Amino acid sequence: MDFNEKSADELAGIGAEAQATYEGIRGKNLALDMTRGKPAPDQLDLSNGILTVVGPGDTDGDDGTDYRNYGILSGIPEAKALFAEYMEVAPAEIIVGGNSSLTMMYDTIVGGMLFGMPGGSAPWGDQGSVKFICPVPGYDRHFAICERLGVGMVTVPMTPDGPDMDAVEALVADDASVKGIWCVPKYSNPSGEVYSDDVVDRLANMQVAAPDFRVIWDNAYNVHHIGEGPAPLKNLLAACKNAGTPDRVLMFGSTSKLTLPGAGVAVLAASEANIQDALKKNVLFRYRPGQNQPTSPCPFLQGHGWAACSYGCPGGDHRSEICGRRRCSSAPVGGQGDCQMDITEGRLFRQC
Ligand SMILES: Cc1ncc(COP(=O)(O)O)c(C=O)c1O
Repeated sequence: MDFNEKSADELAGIGAEAQATYEGIRGKNLALDMTRGKPAPDQLDLSNGILTVVGPGDTDGDDGTDYRNYGILSGIPEAKALFAEYMEVAPAEIIVGGNSSLTMMYDTIVGGMLFGMPGGSAPWGDQGSVKFICPVPGYDRHFAICERLGVGMVTVPMTPDGPDMDAVEALVADDASVKGIWCVPKYSNPSGEVYSDDVVDRLANMQVAAPDFRVIWDNAYNVHHIGEGPAPLKNLLAACKNAGTPDRVLMFGSTSKLTLPGAGVAVLAASEANIQDALKKNVLFRYRPGQNQPTSPCPFLQGHGWAACSYGCPGGDHRSEICGRRRCSSAPVGGQGDCQMDITEGRLFRQC
């Protein structure tokens, strides 16, 4: 249905019908938790060791730095090394953030609106109306950030291989007001697609009118596998470097899906120019990220690198099973051997 072709009366009728359907569902007083990506309590139990793993005497860095204090704006070396492996980048291309990658993404778009991005001539907010490309279906919080900040949204269809790249390329080629695209490249929320190598290469190589255009690469599920095993995903930062567009991508991730979302650590990975820009934007209000507080996953995950975990991936339906690349065989807490997770009604259940 193309709403642009409807008259005001027709739109009012459609609106009234939708409202009536909504009220009907509301009237059933259902208590449904529609949250996506929310771990079940028994998954959280796997990470209970986080609550006690750091004690007095465990808070000095290898070089003797006292991590209990202020400092090290971009993150402690141990956390950077951990995330460098997660994001497949160099530690110098990492900023360790606070508890939430979504907060880092919000800060990034706010920073773009207020201060601009490297390559641009002015803050996005001073360039008239600006837009982001939103592959649909997509993650509602990305769209909420745009809505909140007055960034227009242009939709493109999602295909099994990622966004429809013909549509994306057509949108960015001539219109400098298109400043970015939201991407959840692996096990996309909500529908689970994984971006193909071809899509990654086209994002890196496409002709873009805006010099301050950014791909927001929200890799929330990078090591939270579903289906028949770890899905390969081409490294977009590496592809951009090869294409001569190293500043095009900002990659985000966090430990929220691996340990405790309420006590996680988030990360931005990007070219050194983008990292320096992000640090400059943050310097006035950021003292240090929280990465070795008692509930930080960094000490917990340290020494149990992502690669040390086993997958135990079952066959079967792509969306109904999730392989837990979790601290099972090597973790200091709970777990016996490989774990498999089922997604049932949007929640995760462990089947070890
Ligand atoms: C695609 C996506 N990005 C980000 C997040 C939130 O991540 P964080 O806990 O690091 O803010 C979620 C949570 O469900 C998500 O699905």
